[in-house]
Amino acid sequence: MMQGYGRERWATRIGLILAMAGNAVGLGNFLRFPVQAAENGGGAFMIPYIIAFLIIGIPLMWIEWAIGRYGGAQGHGTTPAIFYLLWKNKLSKVVGVFGLWIPLVVIIYYVYIESWTLGFAIKFLLNLVPQPPTEVEDTKDYLKPFEDFLISYKGSGEELIIPSLYAYVVFLITMVINVGILIRGVSKGIEAFAKIAMPTLFILAVVLVVRVFLLETPNGTALEGLNFLWKPDISRLTDPGVWIAASGQIFFTLSLGFGAIITYASYVRKNQDITLSGLTAASLNETAEVVLGGSLAIPAAVAFFGVANAIAIAKEGAFDLGFISLPAIFVNMTAGNFLGFLWFFLLFFAGLTSSIALMQPLIAFFEDEFGLSRRSSVLITAGIVFFSAHLVIFLRGSLDEMDFWAGTIGVVFFGLLEMIIFLWIFGGQRAWEEINRGGIIRVPKVYYYVMRYVTPIFLLVLLGAWGKEYIPKVIAETHWTVWVTRFYLIGLFLFLTLLVFIAERRRPKEALSE
Ligand code: PHE
Repeated sequence: MMQGYGRERWATRIGLILAMAGNAVGLGNFLRFPVQAAENGGGAFMIPYIIAFLIIGIPLMWIEWAIGRYGGAQGHGTTPAIFYLLWKNKLSKVVGVFGLWIPLVVIIYYVYIESWTLGFAIKFLLNLVPQPPTEVEDTKDYLKPFEDFLISYKGSGEELIIPSLYAYVVFLITMVINVGILIRGVSKGIEAFAKIAMPTLFILAVVLVVRVFLLETPNGTALEGLNFLWKPDISRLTDPGVWIAASGQIFFTLSLGFGAIITYASYVRKNQDITLSGLTAASLNETAEVVLGGSLAIPAAVAFFGVANAIAIAKEGAFDLGFISLPAIFVNMTAGNFLGFLWFFLLFFAGLTSSIALMQPLIAFFEDEFGLSRRSSVLITAGIVFFSAHLVIFLRGSLDEMDFWAGTIGVVFFGLLEMIIFLWIFGGQRAWEEINRGGIIRVPKVYYYVMRYVTPIFLLVLLGAWGKEYIPKVIAETHWTVWVTRFYLIGLFLFLTLLVFIAERRRPKEALSE
């Protein structure tokens, strides 16, 4: 028996857990989460969020680990091939293309935003940042120089955006750093990096949280921010929008429905534990999100600007809070520029351990299905990402469009498909045994029913609610930049589908069957 087809494996269990936690802990924890929470009523958000964690996050996490480990043991790390192992029907391969397309589309914009964090970190380190204005009337005036700073960095425009040369160069550097880690491979590259980056990230976050907690101004205190975030408001539970936002955040932050966890799990040994390791990695992510992520941006903004202003800022989106308001707050403190540097460096490390995870599925696809070397696979993947990123860099609205189709709707849709294929087509009992095989803990039996019934129904309802709210908006969209993006995304999907069918012809038949 050719066990594992000579694929790489994670070297250590702690390395695996840190790599998986690194996969999950990202910009979503520190930028997206606080904005979602503030926009959706603070304490009102946390109840659906916790429920979504329990009935979507945890079960889907175990499912993805199990699907990945199962595929990896047979030489495959991506869903076109793995779905075919689970469901012997040609359709499974086309459905599986989503597991390549989603991470590819998301990495195209994710890595660009990640590059901003590096660009800002360097600027803060070199003291090349605006200072707060004196004598201002209101929050808006106060934030103005920092807003201009962001705009001059990334550029602005109605249709075409021209970024600063600096932003473009830093983007190139960011790509090179990603390639540098990925080219070393799974255990020597990704795992080794996660072992340094994750502890560093936690320490940086704790330092910043402590500093934010000491913040007190005439407008408010950090404690008021925490109070806002954690005071439950039961009345908002009837608002479907809050449930959609909370569930979407669970998908995004735990990297679920992207295919990225599946690919990482494909490097887990055949009988190695996934139940406890998966739970540990997910818990680390939730700690980084609700404890650390929840104690930075919102408490800082509330302490500095007051609750009402903080909510108004959050409504402008994740970028404003992270790239405008927090710098504006930090520069006011002693050693402010250095604190600003720490903040962006934290974001950069969080982003980096996630962007390599988003890049890995396509790399694994080239390696597993085309038999290409690691080096070629990484370079081809990075080339595609780099080329595509120009859309996001230069076309207004492109980023949001990609985030919507792949990172918001796509992941829920794909998560539902995974559950159907694994628990219904492959079979409930087989899937259950696959999840628990080698497990240090046994998954409580209720989760069998949750996975088979509760979560899929919940996701269906979610997709329905989404469709009702967004489809009219999607159709009404007339801007050409958005349509160019949409056609490009369809093109990418067709291109990947073509690759899947070419790969099938190239690969010896017996390798595709069980
Ligand atoms: N979970 C990451 C975040 O919170 C995003 C991500 C999704 C990373 C999928 C890798 C794969 O930012």
